Amino acid sequence: MSRTLWHGRFAAEPSAALAALNDSLPFDQRMFAEDIAASRAHVAMLADVGLLTDAERDDIGTALDQVHSEIAEGRMDWRQTDEDIHTAVERRATELCLSAAKMHTGRSRNDQVATDLRLWTRNAIDVVAPLVVDVAQTLADRAREAHDAGLRLPGYTHLQQAQPVGLAHHLAAHAWALLRDAERLGEARRRTDVSPLGAGALAGSSLPLDPAATAASLGFASVFENSLDAVSDRDFVVDTLYALTMTGVHLSRLGEEIVLWSSAEFGFVTLDDAFATGSSMMPQKKNPDVAELARGKAGRLIGHLAGFLATLKGLPLAYNKDLQEDKEPLFDAVDTVRLTALALSGLLRTLSFRADAMASGADDPFAAATDLAEWLVAAGMPFRQAHAVVADVVRQALGDGAPSASAAQRLVELVSAHRDLGPAAVERLAPGAAHRSRVTHGAGGPAAVAVQLDRLAAALAQAAAAADGR
Ligand code: ARG
Repeated sequence: MSRTLWHGRFAAEPSAALAALNDSLPFDQRMFAEDIAASRAHVAMLADVGLLTDAERDDIGTALDQVHSEIAEGRMDWRQTDEDIHTAVERRATELCLSAAKMHTGRSRNDQVATDLRLWTRNAIDVVAPLVVDVAQTLADRAREAHDAGLRLPGYTHLQQAQPVGLAHHLAAHAWALLRDAERLGEARRRTDVSPLGAGALAGSSLPLDPAATAASLGFASVFENSLDAVSDRDFVVDTLYALTMTGVHLSRLGEEIVLWSSAEFGFVTLDDAFATGSSMMPQKKNPDVAELARGKAGRLIGHLAGFLATLKGLPLAYNKDLQEDKEPLFDAVDTVRLTALALSGLLRTLSFRADAMASGADDPFAAATDLAEWLVAAGMPFRQAHAVVADVVRQALGDGAPSASAAQRLVELVSAHRDLGPAAVERLAPGAAHRSRVTHGAGGPAAVAVQLDRLAAALAQAAAAADGR
């Protein structure tokens, strides 16, 4: 009786414990469409080089069609002995058509699995990259709206209020990071787009195979150069995991800001009910779970990347079963980024910004301290001296206390009365002045941001075209 693809060499049955550890069907059946597509290409090539008749090729093609629909429609009769998707597809195709026993001619599961996973990864990037661009587009849309409304907020360093910037500037900063991620995904896709089919188990074949033909019919951009490398290379998995992890880290940082901004202490945003959760005990709560999960999911992505690199590091050439550990982290990373990007887009699209809370920090006269120093510099004072003059005024205004409305009032009075500063300098402390003053390339003031938003729109259009056009 036919059991595994390799039972012929063995007298005894595999133990249940081995099967439980060894079998990858529970997770690799996700690649069934890719496995069947790769088999179809292989079979067509075998016919072209004379290893199958055209009739055999067509019969196997019909059997593969049926296996495809049985799996797609949930009608596949999986067997205990189907250790992986390759075994299952071949076993079922052979039940349907005897010629399918020739399907594995000149092929090993080693080049087959590498081929399937590359096809799967290429498709996955084509699904995920547009979603990442979509989050960036949502940020850009909200940025445009915030820019038109003149919204500004305090920019932070060390999580201390530093200098005011446009809300558009802040949102666009996250969009640029995500555009780099989409680009990274495209680069990972480019390195994935190489066919390993025809490498055999490790050394190629004595049969007249045509790897360039299978590569072309599967739409691969190029074909492997070295059979050992072809079956053991999982760089494309690491490249993709890294691009996804970096995306996850960016979504995490964005998530963290939304968590902060939705707190009573910041009060910069109100979340839409559809993207917030409540507390089972505290009736007043509205929690930013989507943003928290965006932050939390980055942990598992980092784990997948680090874990799979550790899997690879000690492997001798060529194929080793350790490589079967490539799929679960990759699949999970793709699912994680897909779900997170979708939810975060929705959260961003629907939240509302609280202009007053943001402006009260942005327009705090203390946030314009650098502007005062720069005002002195424009009047000819060396910056180091200007810094000292303003620092002195700030220290006096604060006294022993923290920044407050009365301290801000004292600052205005001190500036107004100051020998080097005076009433003209006070204008730099007016609401919105420090925001408007930042005019240099890529700066946070409205004039510079207007230019930036146009560039962002162009970059987004390009990224969307690249992500969709693949
Ligand atoms: N399930 C295996 C994997 O995912 C397929 C390749 C098995 N090759 C072998 N020689 N046992 O890597």
